Amino acid sequence: MTNPVQNRTKRLYGLQWNRYRIVRTVEDQATLLLKTAMSPGEFAGKLVLDGGCGMGRYARVAAGWGASVLGMDLSEAAIAAQDLTADHSSHVQILRGDLLRPPIAEGRFDLVYSIGVLDHTPDPRQAFLNLAKSVRPGGRMAIWVYQKQSPIVERIMAAHRAIALRLPVHFLERLSRLSVPVGGLKRRLMNSQFRLIERLGVALHALTIGVSMHPDPEVRACDTLDWYAPRFVSHHTHEEVANWFAEAGFHDIADPTTGQTHFHQGQGQGVHMIGTKT
Ligand SMILES: C[S@@+](CC[C@H](N)C(=O)[O-])C[C@H]1O[C@@H](n2cnc3c(N)ncnc32)[C@H](O)[C@@H]1O
Repeated sequence: MTNPVQNRTKRLYGLQWNRYRIVRTVEDQATLLLKTAMSPGEFAGKLVLDGGCGMGRYARVAAGWGASVLGMDLSEAAIAAQDLTADHSSHVQILRGDLLRPPIAEGRFDLVYSIGVLDHTPDPRQAFLNLAKSVRPGGRMAIWVYQKQSPIVERIMAAHRAIALRLPVHFLERLSRLSVPVGGLKRRLMNSQFRLIERLGVALHALTIGVSMHPDPEVRACDTLDWYAPRFVSHHTHEEVANWFAEAGFHDIADPTTGQTHFHQGQGQGVHMIGTKT
């Protein structure tokens, strides 16, 4: 039994990942490599845990590179993940479970990654520490969580989300679809070479801060829903996340990115961090 405070999380992600099965192979591969700081060849033969696998886009990529993957998710996103990884069913297993009470053996996995998940739990640090236990000595852990922004941006985001949280998930899903042209417009305005137009884009962005500017309209709708609708969205600093790694007994703790942190302009600002279990 999961804590009822996670009911909206289950409802949202069950809907989101079954409605938006957005496989974008080139982007998914690049994202997984960036966030784990690994090469495709390094996945072969590894035992991998995808903590909060959603619809399984990264589990599919890791399995395609020869890893044996356990994908775990709280919600019915697990159904989509099962379908998506069916081609690799001999070495992918999908499990429904809660990172706050993970039904997983300790000290077994060569690589544990969790992309955009801990920040959607009621207790990100505890979820991290639970996942960290499943890494074998010498194994690697890689995570991505939303990054804390300046106080003014944090206030704008909190105001937007305070309104969104009063609205039902299905309604927000419709609004997210309707907002797709707004995201496209912001993108065009903010890329203008004319300063006045670019500033107009920035002003529109402040009013619609969670509306995604991803170039692909389907991904844009999905990302917008993912920004406004979750019950929990916490923001973290590099220092805080590095402390979680240290507390869990990791070394070589580092941000794996070298300047390029996004596949597309306008994607969420995040903390990337990897570490090796001592
Ligand atoms: C933003 S989605 C990211 C999914 C996937 N990592 C990806 O990037 O495609 C967050 C996922 O975390 C899952 N999640 C949230 N809280 C969880 C928990 N306590 N235990 C396991 N999964 C959880 C949600 O069900 C959802 O699928």
